[in-house]
This record gives sequence, structure tokens and C-alpha cells, in this order.
Amino acid sequence: SAPAAAGEAIVDWYATAARDLPWRRPGVDAWAVLVSEVMLQQTPVARVEPVWRDWMARWPTPAALAAVPPADVIRAWGKLGYPRRALRLREAAIALVDRHGGVVPPDVAALEALPGVGTYTARAVACFGYGQPQPVVDTNVRRVVARLVHGRAEAGNARAADLPDVASLTPPDPGRAVRFSVAVMELGALVCVARSPRCAACPVRDRCAWRLAGAPAHDGPARRV
Ligand code: ADE
Repeated sequence: SAPAAAGEAIVDWYATAARDLPWRRPGVDAWAVLVSEVMLQQTPVARVEPVWRDWMARWPTPAALAAVPPADVIRAWGKLGYPRRALRLREAAIALVDRHGGVVPPDVAALEALPGVGTYTARAVACFGYGQPQPVVDTNVRRVVARLVHGRAEAGNARAADLPDVASLTPPDPGRAVRFSVAVMELGALVCVARSPRCAACPVRDRCAWRLAGAPAHDGPARRV
């Protein structure tokens, strides 16, 4: 189908264009993925990278983080902002020790039951930490879907409505489905950005409903991209 072909093209693009980020390297475990995702929720990649490295060197397991007082984790969180996330991550570490033997569970329901872990983070950990094909839908992905599939400049408010669209784009091969989840996020972060999208660099520009409609603004005239 046309959406499936677009998804395959996005996976192929990722192989050539992705950023080499430390939490995407082979062998990174689910705890390291969970820490990265909580940090990345409200903070840009460039600021997260050094803090994540220091954090993982200091507290490489949930048990290590669970054992330290809140003041230490707040200090290590540094300038990432929204420091309540640091406290919740420590509470999640304690819950992992108490309820899961210190291991990050692979199932989405158990992940969602952890403090500070919502729909997005649970699926990101299952997908990137455990290699499960899971839809991982953040604001970048929702913007790509709005444009590529629906021809709209921006995503609407109904988050659950994106799941069937994401499913229609996802390659059937499980390994490619896992890569698609990070690839479509990366496309939204690097190319299909909110303002001044870089359509010339987009692997699906010729299939994009928004571009084919002249890239209309949210409620303005069409423009050329
Ligand atoms: N890779 C996996 N999840 C990510 C995220 N939330 N931001 C940037 N890169 C990521």
C-alpha cells in the first residue's frame, strides 16, 4: 500500500541520516533507555547527552539510583529543567527494585504502572530497550502523520486518533517496525520540523499529502516548499 511504502522509505532514510546518539547504540539496556526517554521528554538532545552520560556512569542500574537520597538526584539532574522528573525517576527505580527485582520489565502495562512513565515512555522502552515493535508516538511523529497522511500543517489534539495511521505506515517486518518507530521520530525532529520544514531533504516528499496540497498553513494560503 502507499502508506506502507512511505514507512519503508522512512526506515531507509534513517539508515543514512540518523544522529548517532548514545542511547541508540547497540547494547544499551532498557534502564538506560528509560533514563534517556524521561530526560528527553522536555529537554533537547544536546542538553540531555552529557547529563545522561554522567547519570548512567553513576547509577548504571535501578538499584543504584534507588539507594541515593532525593537531593543527590536533583543535583545530578542539573539544568535539564522540570526537576520533578528526577524525583519520579528515583521513585521508578525504587518501584523497579520493590516490584520487579531491580529489572526494567519488558511489558508495556508494567512499564506504564511506574511513576512518571506514561503511554509514550512505556512504548519507547519496550521498543528501543527490548526490540518490540510498538507504536511510539510523540509530538514529532504526530506532526509527520498530520502532514504525510492527512495534509494538515499540524497535529490536532486527539492523540489516540494517530495510532491507526502510525500502524498503516509501519513496515510488517518486526526489525524494520522497531527502526520505523525511531526513524519517524527522527524525521520529525530533523526534517519535518514545525517551522520551515526541510522538504527537499525528505524521503517521502513525493508522497506527502501536505506538500502535494501546496503545504497550506494552519489557516492561511498555500505556500511553496
Ligand atoms: N531516540 C529515541 N527516543 C528519542 C527521543 N525521545 N528523542 C531523541 N532521540 C530519541
